[in-house]
Amino acid sequence: MKNKFEQINKENKALLATNFYNFETLKGVLTAAQEKNSSIILQLTKSSIDYLGLDNAVAMAKSGLKSFGVKGWIHLDHGPNIELVEACLKAGFDSVMYDGSELSLEQNIENTRKVVSLAAQYNVNVEAELGYIAKLGQAKNKVAYTSAKDAKLFVDETGVNTLAVAIGTAHGFYKKTPKLDFNRLKEIKDAVNIPLVLHGGSGVPVEDVRMAIKNGICKVNVATEIKNIFMQTLKKLLSETEEIDLRKVFPPATNAVKELVKGKLDMVSIV
Ligand code: 13P
Repeated sequence: MKNKFEQINKENKALLATNFYNFETLKGVLTAAQEKNSSIILQLTKSSIDYLGLDNAVAMAKSGLKSFGVKGWIHLDHGPNIELVEACLKAGFDSVMYDGSELSLEQNIENTRKVVSLAAQYNVNVEAELGYIAKLGQAKNKVAYTSAKDAKLFVDETGVNTLAVAIGTAHGFYKKTPKLDFNRLKEIKDAVNIPLVLHGGSGVPVEDVRMAIKNGICKVNVATEIKNIFMQTLKKLLSETEEIDLRKVFPPATNAVKELVKGKLDMVSIV
């Protein structure tokens, strides 16, 4: 993962990182990557790990990558504490995010530094977040933009490999189209020159995502749209049928995820 990021950082490219929640959403994502012949990052949050079980989640993702013939990596999204990061490292993740964005800069630096040294033993990529990107369900104005000066200090002090930056996105759906601060992004990239991560990818216009990639974003996270299209498709279908064979009911929802993710793969690959 670290090598891949180094390479795409030089080439001004980005990887799509999609969250999955169950076998059906994983299958949708993997089928999209397979049909597009694309690499992909498979993300799990703490809630998904709690839901699926850590070992099951990793086994499912690994065997899925293998059986679909997709080059991909397993990433911990928004790791809330060092204990979970360590469990994911032991379970075979390729990449981990430690999210200390709600802490003070000093505390975020201290904790992230610990994670970086722990992950070094596994040669695993570490992502951190600096500034604050509103989480799902939080007011979109709960945002603290990342400053280039803090980013430089943070990267120098922690040795983190990839950095999630707050430049105007938020997790979940937007009430109005977000306005990304590309000047800020450029300043951050000039200051740190490591792969940067765009969280809150759902609902960001394609042109903005591409502009962000041109200016230093190497990983684009998409989650909400996946959950949404899966559930909307399922709900519609269930309202129209008495079918109880879940093997017949889930495939259209999985297929909707596939089509969505294919579009997202196009979005990040044409730069
Ligand atoms: P969305 O849920 O807004 O797509 O954000 C995904 C994300 O950034 C995961 O960390």
